[in-house]
Amino acid sequence: MAFVELKNIKKTYGKGDGKVEALKGIDLSIEKGDMLAIMGASGSGKSTLLNILGYIDKATEGSYALEGQVVEKLSDKALAKRRNKFIGFVVQNFALVEDYTVYQNIRIPLDYTKMTKKEKKQRINDLLTSMGIIDKKDKLPRELSGGQCQRVAIARALVNDPDLILADEPTGALDKKTGEEIMNTFIKLNEEGKTIVVITHDEKVAKMCKKIIYIEDGNLVPQEVKL
Ligand SMILES: Nc1ncnc2c1ncn2[C@@H]1O[C@H](COP(=O)(O)OP(=O)(O)OP(=O)(O)O)[C@@H](O)[C@H]1O
Ligand SMILES: [Mg+2]
Repeated sequence: MAFVELKNIKKTYGKGDGKVEALKGIDLSIEKGDMLAIMGASGSGKSTLLNILGYIDKATEGSYALEGQVVEKLSDKALAKRRNKFIGFVVQNFALVEDYTVYQNIRIPLDYTKMTKKEKKQRINDLLTSMGIIDKKDKLPRELSGGQCQRVAIARALVNDPDLILADEPTGALDKKTGEEIMNTFIKLNEEGKTIVVITHDEKVAKMCKKIIYIEDGNLVPQEVKL
C-alpha cells in the first residue's frame, strides 16, 4: 500500500439547492518521499482535497489511508492525535497566533506531547536555528516580514517531526524571491525524507516539485506530469 492512498474520494458541501460537489471521485496514491504540486483553477477542489489529506475534513464518500491506517475507522479523538503526530500543515496567511511570540507559536503543537520542558526548548531552538530565525525568537508575528512569518509557520508544522507536510499556497502571500526561498526550504525537507504536497497557482513553484497533478472541477486530470 502506498504512503497515501485515496480511493474514489467524493466531497459534497451543503444540501438541496445549495449542494456543491467539490470532489467527484479522486483516486490518488502518493509514495513516501514524494514532493507533489497540486494545480487547478479557483474552486476546482484543491483545498478541499488537502484538508481531507490533512485530517481537517472528512470525505463524504470513498476511502483514505495514510501509512496504512484507514481514516474512516478512526474516532475524532484518534484522528486529532494522529494529525498532531503525522501531519504538518502550512497555509498562505501563516495562521500564527498574534499575541504569542515566535517561540510560543512554535510550541503550540508540543502542548499535546509528553516531552519535558527541556526537550521542548531544545527542539524549538534547533528548529529556529535551522529555519534561520533564531534571532526572532521573542518577537511577535507583526514584528516579522511575511517570509519570516512563513518560516515560523513551517517550524511550527515541523515541531512534531511529521511524515507528511501539506501546504496550501504557502508562497501565495510572498514576493517571488521570498516564495522561492520558502520552496527551497521545502525541497531541503523533502531531501531529508519528508513527503510534501503543495497547492500552488504558480507554475514556477509547481516546477520546483517532483510531480504536478491537476484538478479540474472536482476531478483529477488523468496525466501526471513527472518533472
Ligand atoms: N465549507 C464549504 N462550504 C460550502 N462550499 C464549500 C466549502 N468549502 C469549499 N466549498 C466549495 O467547494 C468548491 C471547491 O473549493 P476549494 O476551496 O476546494 O477550491 P480551491 O481549488 O482550493 O480554490 P482556490 O484556488 O480559490 O483556493 C468550491 O465551489 C467552493 O465554493
Ligand atoms: Mg484553495
